[in-house]
Amino acid sequence: MGRIDVKNLCMEYNQKRVLDRLDLEVLHGEFLVVLGESGCGKSTLLNLIAGLREPFSGQILFDQRDVTRLDVQSRNVAFVFQDYALYPHMTVEQNIRFPLENLKLNRREIDHKCDGILTRLRLNDFRNQYPNQLSGGQKQRVAIGRAMVRDPFVFLFDEPLSSLDPHLRDHLRLELKQLHKELKKTFIYVTHDQLSAMVLGDRVAFMDDGKIQQIGPPLQLYRSPANIRIARFFGFPPVNVLTATDFERLSGKPAPDSKMKFCIRPENLECRADSKGCFEVQWIQQMGAANFVYISVGKQTICGLGKGSLHKNQKVSCNFKSENLMIF
Ligand SMILES: Nc1ncnc2c1ncn2[C@@H]1O[C@H](COP(=O)(O)OP(=O)(O)OP(=O)(O)O)[C@@H](O)[C@H]1O
Ligand SMILES: [Mg+2]
Repeated sequence: MGRIDVKNLCMEYNQKRVLDRLDLEVLHGEFLVVLGESGCGKSTLLNLIAGLREPFSGQILFDQRDVTRLDVQSRNVAFVFQDYALYPHMTVEQNIRFPLENLKLNRREIDHKCDGILTRLRLNDFRNQYPNQLSGGQKQRVAIGRAMVRDPFVFLFDEPLSSLDPHLRDHLRLELKQLHKELKKTFIYVTHDQLSAMVLGDRVAFMDDGKIQQIGPPLQLYRSPANIRIARFFGFPPVNVLTATDFERLSGKPAPDSKMKFCIRPENLECRADSKGCFEVQWIQQMGAANFVYISVGKQTICGLGKGSLHKNQKVSCNFKSENLMIF
């Protein structure tokens, strides 16, 4: 089992409220990503779930058992921090053996478990190296290996990949996903990186204003965000946000409500070369797989997906499917 219920959780630092009656249900065996801007309280939430801090009020349940006032040792959680926290004077193997030795297993059991973890994380070739002789990705795997020792109730990850280079990060994301599949444990992963959330999460919980604002499969947050802040958080280039007047200029249709905002993602707005088009290309952003073009609509600059051979000052016409329009 590995179900976690967070109920009405409040946390304050120096009378400043960081978590405000936060509710969250984490399902058994799921990979849940908590996503939100820097400073929104993700690490605070994770520390409270781990038992590294006590909340101001509210409850945390592990499989219906109230653990809110239990210390970290009594909760059996595995915590992987961004800065790895490996013992620098120990080899890879010793780093993994150390927590096993603390479990008071006999020597053969320790050998067996340690070999299993080293093999599973492909660390066999590095077992006699020290942390300062490892790459960021290898250190990361040792940290995960140490967390695997205990057969924990839940794995908690606090932005573990953010200090790595982009290629390594891509690679480790896939490894982490694979590891989750193999271990069949509950994973909670906090990050401000939308791409990690999209790639890793079975579900994503978006955190803002001390609460979970929306929770669901990543594509649901991407396609049907609950509010403009969530819409803006996902996607690159960022979503276009239009007033009713600019929406009418762009679509040539009357806006259903003059007070609403109309959002369309650049990849859903086709800008096609057209000598009779109403808009003009201001500049082009080459992305390799796609070209994004920027056009002026009213006083706003709007980004869309370029179609056909385009150049600066070219006339274009713009189209989108109504199902891709998000209205707030
Ligand atoms: N020990 C502390 N004492 C006082 N304020 C704190 C403490 N820890 C965190 N805070 C404040 O609480 C807020 C939430 O911090 P937290 O570390 O949980 O954010 P975060 O979402 O993890 O941010 P990031 O993405 O940058 O890691 C921030 O405004 C931070 O300054
Ligand atoms: Mg943090």
